[in-house]
Amino acid sequence: PLNFAVMGNPIQHSYSPLLHSLFAKQAGLAINYEKMLVPLDGFEAAVQTFFSQGGKGLNITIPFKLRAYEQAKANLSRRAQSAGSVNTLWMEDGQLHGCNTDGIGMVNDIRRQGIALEDKKILLLGAGGAARGVVLPLLETGCRQLLIVNRTASKATALATQCLAELPQYTSVLSAGGFEHIQGQWDIVINATSSSLQQHALPLPAGLFAHNSLAYDMVYTPENDTPFLQQARQDGATMASDGLGMLVYQGSESFFIWNHVRINPVPVLETLRQQLL
Ligand code: ATR
Repeated sequence: PLNFAVMGNPIQHSYSPLLHSLFAKQAGLAINYEKMLVPLDGFEAAVQTFFSQGGKGLNITIPFKLRAYEQAKANLSRRAQSAGSVNTLWMEDGQLHGCNTDGIGMVNDIRRQGIALEDKKILLLGAGGAARGVVLPLLETGCRQLLIVNRTASKATALATQCLAELPQYTSVLSAGGFEHIQGQWDIVINATSSSLQQHALPLPAGLFAHNSLAYDMVYTPENDTPFLQQARQDGATMASDGLGMLVYQGSESFFIWNHVRINPVPVLETLRQQLL
């Protein structure tokens, strides 16, 4: 079989082996996909060993995504460059290549829910690694406006400035500030802060959600019900989605990079939701 793995620390709770075994079953491929707990001082060597032993593809998770970016620096996809981190590694022409599939995974999961992003007003909460990973794929949807807000406003403006230096064509679309900058109504509000992990509510103004709006949390829980999604439903968001679909869709993009096969993520998402409940 073809060999794959996910590397992280911790790695115990990763769903990637389950996801990829379901993708492979659908595609009719025989694969072997393992969880690898990698010591903090041994990441680069573990990647090298994996590929020198014939490994076909790696997913990278916390805390190694920046180091994977550094290691694949000579051969990064646009998505990886823009995200500043890598979650997918493979070998091509004897060289290590890196991509980041998180952002396109989230965009495809939003589309799965019947929502077109073209011409929409999108509010992105947070300015850390998770937020940075989705900016380029969001801009490329043709959205009307993308506002990045963060508790530390300077981090949001720095992120927007950096993105615009590379993508000046989005100057009229992309802006940034603190939470106090939020005005008006928004079609899609995405939580890319780690607030849900800490069970904290965010300082969002009332009346934020437009008619037919979506609240999207990158975090997932068994019940599709994070503190941010509760807050959003109470404030009138029409739809509320956690990030389980993002997990499945980022995986399906990695699967495509490695195997050149497109699978249908929807039944896999249904299976995963059942497993969580
Ligand atoms: P990640 O890789 O998950 O994005 P990170 O880079 O540490 O992690 O970023 C965490 C993000 O969550 C930041 O935007 C952080 O805001 P600050 O830059 O002001 O620290 C945000 N965050 C974390 N806890 C938060 C809270 N309780 N309320 C609002 N924002 C929070």
